[in-house]
Amino acid sequence: LESRTDLGPADIVMPGQVTRIDIEDHTYALYRTRRNAYALTDGICTHGSADLSTGHLDDCIIECPKHNGRFNVLTGEPVRRPAKIPLATYPVEVVDGRLLVALR
Ligand code: FES
Repeated sequence: LESRTDLGPADIVMPGQVTRIDIEDHTYALYRTRRNAYALTDGICTHGSADLSTGHLDDCIIECPKHNGRFNVLTGEPVRRPAKIPLATYPVEVVDGRLLVALR
């Protein structure tokens, strides 16, 4: 059984927004799409060292603020160059209004 980490209440991120989460020296980005899907990925772009939480989220696509590479935040797949390496993703579940995630 995987242990899950409580990221906080479900409203720490609003629909259409992304926020940075740091846990034990690791940076993540937490997303909530306009359609209310939550996603958590590594927070640093796989192309360079940009903080994805400062990029622009359009539905489930995050655009890196540095070179404008894009990723699908639900799958981690790069969808626009220069991003080529997938982002690690972590499943998020809403349980009793809290965001629970299985971190690897
Ligand atoms: Fe993100 Fe280059 S650092 S696309």
